[in-house]
Amino acid sequence: MQPLKYALKTSQTLRQSPLSLVIWQIFRTYRTTSNFKTKVYPELEKQQDNGVQRDFSSRLATGPTFQHFLRNALTPQEESEKSDSSAAVEDLPPYLSTEALVGKRRKVYLETYGCQMNVNDAEIAWSILEKNGYLRTNSLHEADVILLVTCSIREKAEQAIWHRLKRLKSVKARRLKSQVPLRIGILGCMAERLKEEILQREQLVDIIAGPDSYRDLPRLLTLADSGQRSANVLLSLEETYADIMPVQTSPNATSAFVSIMRGCDNMCSYCIVPFTRGRERSRPVASILEEVKKLSEQGLKEVTLLGQNVNSYRDNSEIQFNNAAPTNLSRGFSANYKMKKGGLRFADLLDQVSRIDPEMRIRFTSPHPKDFPDEVLHLIQERNNICKQIHLPAQSGSSRVLEIMRRGYTREAYLDLIHHIRETIPGVSLSSDFIAGFCGETEEDHLQTLSLLREVRYNVGFLFAYSMRQKTRAYHRLQDDVPEEVKQRRLAELITAFREGAAEANMAVVGHTQLILVEGPSKRSTTELCGRNDVTLEA
Ligand code: 5AD
Ligand code: SF4
Repeated sequence: MQPLKYALKTSQTLRQSPLSLVIWQIFRTYRTTSNFKTKVYPELEKQQDNGVQRDFSSRLATGPTFQHFLRNALTPQEESEKSDSSAAVEDLPPYLSTEALVGKRRKVYLETYGCQMNVNDAEIAWSILEKNGYLRTNSLHEADVILLVTCSIREKAEQAIWHRLKRLKSVKARRLKSQVPLRIGILGCMAERLKEEILQREQLVDIIAGPDSYRDLPRLLTLADSGQRSANVLLSLEETYADIMPVQTSPNATSAFVSIMRGCDNMCSYCIVPFTRGRERSRPVASILEEVKKLSEQGLKEVTLLGQNVNSYRDNSEIQFNNAAPTNLSRGFSANYKMKKGGLRFADLLDQVSRIDPEMRIRFTSPHPKDFPDEVLHLIQERNNICKQIHLPAQSGSSRVLEIMRRGYTREAYLDLIHHIRETIPGVSLSSDFIAGFCGETEEDHLQTLSLLREVRYNVGFLFAYSMRQKTRAYHRLQDDVPEEVKQRRLAELITAFREGAAEANMAVVGHTQLILVEGPSKRSTTELCGRNDVTLEA
């Protein structure tokens, strides 16, 4: 019942703060099914239609009643009964009509930070706003609404947002009185992590929407129009935005991202993601297939299946999927949670998606190494259009550190998996994530990570210095005891080892002919193009 705890925690924190008490009481959010529930109050509308100047008592009569507040202040018991349904969207308060939610052709500027999930979330948010009469702009200076889709994974990512907000202050201040006031919103992980603290700290922020609250954006923006700053940060057990097809923003795009699942149940001890994005839930297979078919009809040549733990995919939405089949993990790997059973799994999904259009390349990110059973590996090997590229985040090369990180594998099990993958999928391209200087990491642990990098020789690597995050297990139980300069030195050493390995791995394909999907001009040179191969080697 972890997610319920998140939801209740959220509401409790909000209730404790005097500033947000009123906001909370009036705009308390609870979960409804996926469609926006609105209430129309005929008396109020009639008065507005007639243009009648209401006196104070008649305004009181038509405003929110004491019952309205009572109705919204549920007991924890009532709250728990409601918390298992989908999107977090509030009934409209009596003083807002459905029409008030329309964007009136205001221009929205979206700025995205962090991972690919955020890029996709920005498109989901935009899709919702577009349906509500907003327009999109690529120019900050044209914008009536600026929305930042934020990341919390490391402190640096959050600092970038705080700096950006400082700069936006002057943009807001320069706004002409004759224009509609500029509205600024924080969306995504940072909204979820800091909640109303952002509203308190940054007076210029008007709305806060967590990753499961994008359906509520039109209402939050409408409240902002009436001068009220508000937040919706409830996490959901079910929200996958399955019915919201993100808008393809670039007409020349060759490649698209399709979200297949959200959230994470792994609870690695360093990671904030389970707290900002909530529990793992998968989008029903039918809606994924429909979206991929549409993209194929539009002529797209590549689809990347997206999720925090993409290969933990499990669709339980149909009765026939709900057998008691046990879950096969990679050999020597374990999960931090009680093993789940049944459901349509990642191998089934990959099988069906890759059959839609044999000319369309399929990729997926980001997976967890524990969920690579043989059926997934064989499918990648067999299907020509599934790219032979696997991301296998190792995080550390030391079994001792991996245990403290709660990764569910040892160095040996990870290396066995690498060998098994290379045997099963010859020529496969491998990438990984590593963290330098995690709590308690010794010089010996660090040398183990260096030796893993040298042994595997990844093609692509993402390397980070450890950044302690509040709420995580590490924050509560471990000491962030590796000095910053040591973290940075170790990170630099990891980068060097990675680069040497990648240079060798890439040299091995020099002289081979590769089929490249061109993505556009190279950033480094106007005379070169940039694109990706699928790593099926042709001699
Ligand atoms: N500090 C540094 N890196 C982190 N990552 C996740 N949490 C942290 C943290 N607290 C890295 C992991 C993960 C990637 C997305 O970000 O390597 O795989
Ligand atoms: Fe974070 Fe671990 Fe989940 Fe990845 S698997 S999102 S690192 S908790």
